[in-house]
Amino acid sequence: MTTLCDMLVFGGTGDLALHKLLPALFHLHRDGRLHPKMRILALARNALDRQRYLALAERHCRAQVARADFSSEAWRSFSERLDYFAMDVSQSADFGRLARYLGPDQGCGRVHYLATAPHLFEDIAAHLAIAGLAGPQSRIVLEKPIGHSLESARAINAAIGKVFDESQVFRIDHYLGKETVQNLMALRFANALFEPIWRAGHIDHVQISVCETLGVENRGAYYDRSGAMRDMVQNHLLQLLCLVAMEAPVRFDAEAVRNEKVKILEALQPISGLDVRDKTVRGQYSAGKIGGQEVPAYYFEKNVDNDSDTETFVAIKAEIDNWRWAGVPFYLRTGKRLARKYSEIVIQFKPVPHRLFADGEANCLLIRLQPEERISLQLMAKTPGKGMRLEPVELDLNLAQAFSRQRRWDAYERLLLDVIEGDSTLFMRRDEVEAAWRWVDPILEGWHEYYQSPRPYAAGTAGPEQAHSLLELHGRQWHD
Ligand code: BG6
Repeated sequence: MTTLCDMLVFGGTGDLALHKLLPALFHLHRDGRLHPKMRILALARNALDRQRYLALAERHCRAQVARADFSSEAWRSFSERLDYFAMDVSQSADFGRLARYLGPDQGCGRVHYLATAPHLFEDIAAHLAIAGLAGPQSRIVLEKPIGHSLESARAINAAIGKVFDESQVFRIDHYLGKETVQNLMALRFANALFEPIWRAGHIDHVQISVCETLGVENRGAYYDRSGAMRDMVQNHLLQLLCLVAMEAPVRFDAEAVRNEKVKILEALQPISGLDVRDKTVRGQYSAGKIGGQEVPAYYFEKNVDNDSDTETFVAIKAEIDNWRWAGVPFYLRTGKRLARKYSEIVIQFKPVPHRLFADGEANCLLIRLQPEERISLQLMAKTPGKGMRLEPVELDLNLAQAFSRQRRWDAYERLLLDVIEGDSTLFMRRDEVEAAWRWVDPILEGWHEYYQSPRPYAAGTAGPEQAHSLLELHGRQWHD
């Protein structure tokens, strides 16, 4: 039986709610994964009535959900769960109104999903408590970024911690809900093959790239204050790094998995002072062309400062100071308005110790998270015919094809279901978020201190030149 709870989505008219959360809840509903009595209440300031909100939600769901998965009948039954409540989250009195509107809970507790700006988190949590909406059965879901520095993240965590026990707090990072990201754990911990060579003695370096073609869309105001470091590196890229680097947890449960991730974050070699100049590259896109279309420079985007020095691209050479990884660089890279959209992890192995053949390349394991979900191992093979001419060939596991009969879940579906069921394995614990900020803060400070303004790169390219030099200096290159 599915777990009963009510879900309150704060920021109910925002992009996240309309583009991701409602379509994910619709899918879960359609697949019969939501309790029949579960209600979903969207909350925002806009003075809409329920009918107008339903129309807005339907329009977005139709656009996001594949045609084959959408039907008017499914929408009608889904919309019976869906309601809208206009309120101002800065007003304590509005929470009193909300509590009265909700009436007694269904004996199941409530999930408060905060799809709002992080500066509202503290107020919302405090007001929920005053209004009696934060009982022991309730849960709170916080969207990233949690704060914009270690200090602000601590303040948010402390304020949330006054109202909710850590076990009730779900800090979401949607990358952890992606199938291939979870497959990375399966690959490492359900196959004996890789473990003996998953270490410094055999691995030359690791690359983690999350490249986007999108710009900042309607999020200029938010993005201009965060930049790629806070928007992507502090959370998604560091989470991927943790999954590649962590030791096998003793159990697949929330505490054991998160304990291992924290150990990696704490072992990250600090990058501060002059190291920031040598080990990091920040960039910002200038005008260019993507898919044949002209796109403007970042500083001409809507709600972005004309002389903004916010980075839209980051590359970092990170190192982990522990026995397994000492001396193995983890190159991280992310950027907006790049030539192609893809996310991948590359494990570059060392070459064979003694070379027998004229040609030969070191093996490399490619874990493609998107657009296609694929794991491929590059091996050397002899080409047909006389002589020993070698070429790299790929041992390819296409996960979408291997499981083609099952619908691919969106990350939010999996994560929302985990929240409803109270499983926090794929969510970030308080100490994890803070450890990530502890590593990121000195880099941000270094950029400021040495006034490392972002290097320009034309939209539609692979980012600034300096990102290539970061690897070329050591005879390596990005896997493009
Ligand atoms: C979000 C960032 O967390 O992740 C966005 O705020 C980014 O700026 C997005 O575009 C990328 O997610 P995905 O799943 O499209 O790789």
